[in-house]
Amino acid sequence: MPRLVIEGGRCLRGTIGVSGAKNAALPILAACILNAGVCRIERVPRLRDVEVMQDLLVHLGASVVRDGQSMVVDTRGVESWEVPEELMRRMRASNLALGPLLGRFGRARMAYPGGCNIGARPMDLHLKGLQAMGARITERAGYITAEAHRLTGADIHLDLPSVGATENLMMAAVLAWGTTVIRNAAREPEIVDLQNFLNRLGARIRGAGTSVVKIEGVSGLSDATHAVIPDRIEAGTHLVAAAITGGDLTVTGCIPEHLEAVLAKLREAGMEVAVYDDAVRVWAPRKLRAVDLKTMPYPGFPTDMQAPFMALLTLAEGTSVVTETVFENRYKHVPELRRMGADIKLEGQTAIVRGVPRLSGACVEASDLRAGAALVLAGLAAENTTVVENVHFIDRGYEYLEEKYNACGARIKRLTD
Ligand code: EPZ
Repeated sequence: MPRLVIEGGRCLRGTIGVSGAKNAALPILAACILNAGVCRIERVPRLRDVEVMQDLLVHLGASVVRDGQSMVVDTRGVESWEVPEELMRRMRASNLALGPLLGRFGRARMAYPGGCNIGARPMDLHLKGLQAMGARITERAGYITAEAHRLTGADIHLDLPSVGATENLMMAAVLAWGTTVIRNAAREPEIVDLQNFLNRLGARIRGAGTSVVKIEGVSGLSDATHAVIPDRIEAGTHLVAAAITGGDLTVTGCIPEHLEAVLAKLREAGMEVAVYDDAVRVWAPRKLRAVDLKTMPYPGFPTDMQAPFMALLTLAEGTSVVTETVFENRYKHVPELRRMGADIKLEGQTAIVRGVPRLSGACVEASDLRAGAALVLAGLAAENTTVVENVHFIDRGYEYLEEKYNACGARIKRLTD
């Protein structure tokens, strides 16, 4: 299995470009199922998760061809409405095919997505919403089957602002009969991007980015081209890389307003932050201060930035209190950071991080995408050499990570057996 060997103690300086957002590309690629035609999706990052979504669409009968940073998706050949268990096990976000398949074919079948390293991640809100729209849901032997002659618009209130449930219900409602209202909807920028793509197909959606999304069902869709928004979590990870190495980085090709919660915490920690139209520059004047973090649905501090930011806090002056409210088990990076000398105590959903003067390089294991990123950041700052195992987790969500950091002064080698 590949691993990254990181020589620590080097400042990152220069500029880093941001790739397209994984968590926008995945629902948008799934949404192509709704339109029996050809769509061109631009700025699609080369990630393992995108490859899984590509495999899923091909399994269903589509043709998906990469053309540089774009994907050309032809769904005219889609005939199957079943997502195989193997694909569900490879990536939970395969469940984003549920709404589009139900919307287009009136049927969908898929294995329950397994829980993963960050929590159980059920689909009850997805299924309750689809039932409200008239779908008959049966769950047997680990499989979900959803059927509806034609979905009917409904007024749905989500118990919590689930990103995936909001996306699946938006997609299911596009071709439904009548109007659907999703209340307590998730407000992430990736949902606004999905709305924009669906409206380009001919859907009639408004309100994405607020907690009330309205979808007026239409009878047909047409082809479209769409460029995916930049990845705000990748951008935030690079900003933390500058902070933790005492460097000076300009992250280009991002949308600063998507990063407001992260920028606020970087400023609170003592970073200098300069914001431009499509770039952010950060530099570290001196030792950083401890800050408290509480992850919340957007526009709160993103749960996907909790692990990367915690790596920074292990070296800040003082004690930080980190509270993870979105997922129930998102501290797998803590024991690995401890192996590098971090002083972190877990008390339920809270981590108490006492800053230490330095981290020491060690052999550590990534357990999920963002935990892996946190270990890379810690390795950049640690003394001596850090080896990060299970790099395939990192490859799920970061395009060309070591290349981007090496171009700014890091020394990271990828070793494959
Ligand atoms: C999306 O996951 C993202 N993935 C995650 O990014 C992100 O961490 C998460 O949203 C929160 O922002 C993609 O967009 C592909 P949720 P999703 O439904 O949709 C519970 C990364 O690192 N829940 O908002 O699965 C659930 O268990 C990944 O890029 C229910 O209880 O997240 C969790 O505790 C990790 N019932 C919470 O809601 C449901 O029916 C938030 O889940 C659905 C969710």
